[in-house]
Amino acid sequence: MHILITGHRGRLGGRLAELLAPAHTVTGVDLPELDLADPGAVARLADLRPDWVIHTAAWTDVDGCARDPERAMRINAYGTKHVALACQRLGIPLTHISTNEVFDGAKTTPYLEYDAPNPINPYAASKWAAEQIVRELLPQHQIVRLSWLIAHGGKNFVQTVLARARDRQPLRVVIDEIAAPTYNDDLAPALIRLVEGGHFGTYHLVNEGQTTRHALARFVLDRAGFEATPIEPIVLAQYPRPSTVPPRAVLRNQAAALLGITLRPWQDAVIDFLREEGLLKE
Ligand SMILES: NC(=O)c1ccc[n+]([C@@H]2O[C@H](COP(=O)([O-])OP(=O)(O)OC[C@H]3O[C@@H](n4cnc5c(N)ncnc54)[C@H](OP(=O)(O)O)[C@@H]3O)[C@@H](O)[C@H]2O)c1
Repeated sequence: MHILITGHRGRLGGRLAELLAPAHTVTGVDLPELDLADPGAVARLADLRPDWVIHTAAWTDVDGCARDPERAMRINAYGTKHVALACQRLGIPLTHISTNEVFDGAKTTPYLEYDAPNPINPYAASKWAAEQIVRELLPQHQIVRLSWLIAHGGKNFVQTVLARARDRQPLRVVIDEIAAPTYNDDLAPALIRLVEGGHFGTYHLVNEGQTTRHALARFVLDRAGFEATPIEPIVLAQYPRPSTVPPRAVLRNQAAALLGITLRPWQDAVIDFLREEGLLKE
């Protein structure tokens, strides 16, 4: 199969491209050669004649989106619309990557795939609009939501916490933001199973369980030899930022689990991430 990946230089797109390459013909597109905000350029993707598109590209700077909501809509929502229209013209399926942030975080139990979204920040609003566009335009689609991506080779929460501990900088981490971490190396193969199986619909692919940011930071420090490093517990209200965070946007994988596709508990995934990075103190 010829698979086109948007955002193939990003964290998820890059890993998917590596894993898909042996079995499939993979074409990657990304900034600067493709700007999702340019409808004409996105329409020309159809000239590449893919059999399937996996759309990972997005403006993922959540605070940036809060500062410029119009740009967020242009790239994340309407950029996705142009990708979906190219797929419609070719009559091919689209896998669209979305986020736990489409939910408002008010539910006290984990969100299931068909719970009602209610975005509370501009990044989330642009990603929710993108989901609706994909559903509206393409019968053959997959929408895959994830949260708190932990990936090798990119900046993420785990590396930020460890860098601050190494530099002996004070650590203040929130106790009232709760979600499920998603290890890129678990996510990518699970997503490929959804694609290769032709399983259309909406999915939550996250590692099993849930944690607070604070507990995740403690877990990481304790396993990387920083047991004595303190982390000051704070609440979201003490950490003002341009974007409003959904406090409890925990995703539960029900739809993919029914197909036998699950990700292991987040603790096992984080330990493997640290081991691969050479950071685990065993
Ligand atoms: N990371 C998370 O915790 C998380 C959580 C939930 C959902 N998601 C979703 O998962 C997907 C993949 O996330 P990721 O962390 O792998 O993202 P990433 O590493 O930021 O990769 C996104 C890619 O899209 C590119 N891009 C940005 N603006 C673009 C534009 N206007 N036109 C074309 N390409 C553009 C980026 O290029 P530049 O690097 O040059 O900007 C980058 O290569 C995204 O759709 C994101 O919304 C991520």
